[in-house]
Amino acid sequence: MMPRITDTILAEQARERHAVFNCMLPLLADLVPNWDFDEWETRIGDDTLLIDDLGLTSVEFIDLFVGVEKAVGRAIGFHDLLMVDGRYISDLRLGALIDFVLARLHTTPGETLPRPAADGISCAPAASGRAIDDATIARFRAIIPQPRPQQALPHPNPPAVFLLSAPRSGSTLLQTILAGHPMLFAPPELHLLWFQDLAERRLALSHDANRHLTSGAIRAIMELDSLTVDEASAVLEDYEARHMPVSDFYALMQHRLGPRLLVDKTPANSYSTMVLQQSEQLFQQPRYLFLMRHPGGMSRSFMDARLERTVPFMQRHATEFTPDQFAELAWLTCNQNIISFLDQVPDERKHRIHYEDLVSDPETTLRSVCDFLGIDFHPNMLDPYQNKSKRMADGLKRIGEMSGDLKFHLHERIDPEAAHRWHRYLSEDALSGPTWALAETLGYRRGG
Ligand code: A3P
Repeated sequence: MMPRITDTILAEQARERHAVFNCMLPLLADLVPNWDFDEWETRIGDDTLLIDDLGLTSVEFIDLFVGVEKAVGRAIGFHDLLMVDGRYISDLRLGALIDFVLARLHTTPGETLPRPAADGISCAPAASGRAIDDATIARFRAIIPQPRPQQALPHPNPPAVFLLSAPRSGSTLLQTILAGHPMLFAPPELHLLWFQDLAERRLALSHDANRHLTSGAIRAIMELDSLTVDEASAVLEDYEARHMPVSDFYALMQHRLGPRLLVDKTPANSYSTMVLQQSEQLFQQPRYLFLMRHPGGMSRSFMDARLERTVPFMQRHATEFTPDQFAELAWLTCNQNIISFLDQVPDERKHRIHYEDLVSDPETTLRSVCDFLGIDFHPNMLDPYQNKSKRMADGLKRIGEMSGDLKFHLHERIDPEAAHRWHRYLSEDALSGPTWALAETLGYRRGG
């Protein structure tokens, strides 16, 4: 008897699901401690929860997703799977992941899929309603560490570009876009300007929560000298042992760049005006891209990422502010610092970009960035997901070791929806008076 068409379809679907499942197994074997392949192959299935049952962390989630994308040979856009009703789900069943990957493989890139069902929600903390006033801002400013003052260099380094922004403003996206331009070299966060030399940097970035921030410099060395992770790490360790001044490390990178311009994006620099000023001490005529985002969008993103848990000075004062206060205070302080620093910089060396414009009209926004930098627009900039490794967006051995926003890997293109999604989950009225006052000077309007 001929098999019925439905049987054939079902058999084909089962075969496809099995193929996706098989491509995940070695990735999971890599991520799950004490993995016994033979035993696990029979014990995990559609209902297995990635966090609860397998013990993956959210960073390992992203490692798994990027591994799946590599294995299937195309971007999947996991953002839609993980975000349900504006919140990141707290766990995910393996079966839901396989179904999503299969559904994506059956659609053309960019086509919208129905939302998958949630397996529970993670809930970024809701706004606490604890308003921010001048006294709160002063208390927050008092807990921010300050760098040791540095002398101006007698012979400053050649010009470079600094991408200034508060955290969670789309800086990883813009950095990766710029890294696609042949005249620019834009590595992941370098975390250099806070320090006088690389030994001091190593010491400060040696906690579990911030060790990954050393990786941008390693990734830059790998790219410049075509080295492996281990080789580049050894080079950096040698520089650290020699207490190489940060200015010499910049000079070393710039020397290898030829005509390309170095772009340093390190949002943490903006917590301190003194740190921002270092660029004027160390470089000739540096230029600045000021990337800003609506305080509601940035705060929502900051709370989602639970960033206050990973910034050492916030961890030390965790009980003194609520998570939403940390988020809004980070927006306020960083943007205030950037504005007051840039007030001293001539107009021809600074350029403003709104994240909302970058994602809704990338070409116009990027053309004006190129005009400002004196370089031709390059179409590669419009597809930051093309050639991620050349753009240094691939972490070190694992994606989770990347110094920057891991959510970049959940998107599959420059996503215009990301600009306004937060409106559905955070009321503009939750933002305090001082935040609105500053936001309005940056062109943001209530109800806009
Ligand atoms: P959300 O958390 O609101 O989604 P940063 O790199 O400065 O930390 O910024 C992180 C924000 O940039 C996140 O905002 C992230 O989703 C967003 N982002 C990353 N890649 C993006 C893309 N391809 N399109 C739009 N937004 C993106």
